[in-house]
Amino acid sequence: MAALPEPEAPTVHIVPMRRRHVRQVLRIEQQVYPRPWSASLFHSELALRSTRAYYIARVGRELVGYAGLMMTVDDGHVTTIAVDPEWHRHKIGTRLLLVLAREAISRGAASLTLEVRMSNRGAQELYRQFGFAPVGVRKNYYQEVNEDALVMWAHEVDRADYTELLDGIERGLPSDTVLER
Ligand SMILES: CC(C)(COP(=O)(O)OP(=O)(O)OC[C@H]1O[C@@H](n2cnc3c(N)ncnc32)[C@H](O)[C@@H]1OP(=O)(O)O)[C@@H](O)C(=O)NCCC(=O)NCCS
Repeated sequence: MAALPEPEAPTVHIVPMRRRHVRQVLRIEQQVYPRPWSASLFHSELALRSTRAYYIARVGRELVGYAGLMMTVDDGHVTTIAVDPEWHRHKIGTRLLLVLAREAISRGAASLTLEVRMSNRGAQELYRQFGFAPVGVRKNYYQEVNEDALVMWAHEVDRADYTELLDGIERGLPSDTVLER
């Protein structure tokens, strides 16, 4: 049986995703997405080391979330982010996005972008806190659910004030985050 969240906010470990994590990643993926990625898609993403960065979040021994980044010339594209429904609203998504944003900046990103389902207001609010603003719509991007994607961008993430925004978000977290390399 999965461990339930502790009453006290636990330390969260963020770890680069490895192939051995994919089975647990899929357990979450299949719960939260109508068209889940396959194991082989995760494996091929993990093999693209120079342009991708995938992380998992762990509490104790339990994998509770994951997120991925694709780098283009000077943009970082968030390819996926998901948290075990049992762990929603425990700032796991926030911690994953913090790590992805800093990774993208360290790899030279000036902007960050992502697509999100129009109806996914919770995720949009999370992204808004990271400075993402809506800039366009991709019609019927999610064909499996007949839904448009909102395209969001955060610009000038290489500037000091964006670093301060990230530092402020981190200071607001309810418990420690340990980034393992
Ligand atoms: C989106 C998702 C990754 C957020 O992860 P999370 O760990 O629950 O998010 P956090 O706890 O870090 O949320 C941070 C803030 O974002 C906002 N937020 C997150 N989820 C929200 C929701 N369902 N409704 C309203 N606001 C929400 C809140 O402001 C929240 O702060 P608060 O809890 O103090 O109010 C998670 O809901 C998820 O996995 N959803 C299914 C997959 C998905 O939709 N991924 C995004 C695809 S683009």
